[in-house]
Amino acid sequence: MAEPFYKAHWREVEPDRMAAYRDGFGWDEATESLFRPAEISIGHKVADFGCGPGKVSAEIAKRVGPKGHVHAIDINAEFLEITRENAAVAGVSGHLTTHLSDGVSLPLSDGSLDRVSARNAIMYVDNPVSTLQEFHRVLRPGGLAHAIDGDWYMMVAEPVSHDAWRNFVKAASHACRNSDMGRKLHGAFVEAGFRDVEVSITANADVDGRLLGMIRNMAKYARASGTIDHQSVDQIVAQVEQAHTDGTYFVVSPQFVVTGRKTG
Ligand SMILES: C[S@@+](CC[C@H](N)C(=O)[O-])C[C@H]1O[C@@H](n2cnc3c(N)ncnc32)[C@H](O)[C@@H]1O
Repeated sequence: MAEPFYKAHWREVEPDRMAAYRDGFGWDEATESLFRPAEISIGHKVADFGCGPGKVSAEIAKRVGPKGHVHAIDINAEFLEITRENAAVAGVSGHLTTHLSDGVSLPLSDGSLDRVSARNAIMYVDNPVSTLQEFHRVLRPGGLAHAIDGDWYMMVAEPVSHDAWRNFVKAASHACRNSDMGRKLHGAFVEAGFRDVEVSITANADVDGRLLGMIRNMAKYARASGTIDHQSVDQIVAQVEQAHTDGTYFVVSPQFVVTGRKTG
């Protein structure tokens, strides 16, 4: 049976999109604050679920040091190749292992990890609660799961109107299993059996055009959906690009950061 689009478009990534991911998804100050609640430290064994190009995995590997270990997991083999390259550049290949995943189960044994982290990955899984139950299974008692996800309906893209944005997101949402995963993370952590579940939201306000690529990607998904007329999609992209040219560009993409502890 053919895979749903939200999975298929990660299994096979077009060359121009892959080139952008290869250059992006780095570790910067904003990433540092998104990962602070995960409390990753020296000696930890950590899984980075949906690792993409693995720049984050490599940074985590630096933080846990050679006594720790990072398992970088993804459904896309090319991302894992790039992750190994980034690990080599960072000098952490000795304590970073890549795993090609079936997208459902984690190839790790019960109670073997201190931390499991997933940035912008839970929104693509078939069943978020089942995936978080897998996180729970591989964590040791006291271990922490940490997930970061956006919520496309809560984004702001000035000067696009509320209704136009809503229709645009609705059309683009077939690219995710849950494009509003951010708001659903807390409940999913609780249902998966985590305790001490904590939530924070980082507003991620962009005035420089950092999120233009994301909006252009969403536009591609919206056009491909066949559920919205291309003219209204083009108009949204044009409005945001014009604002960028005029210096009035303002886009906000809230990131929900959730941690939960495995007890007992
Ligand atoms: C938006 S990217 C985030 C990459 C990385 N976490 C980062 O923040 O730099 C989403 C990643 O999740 C992966 N992914 C999507 N569905 C997945 C699944 N079911 N299991 C594991 N990884 C998945 C994709 O292949 C992609 O690498």
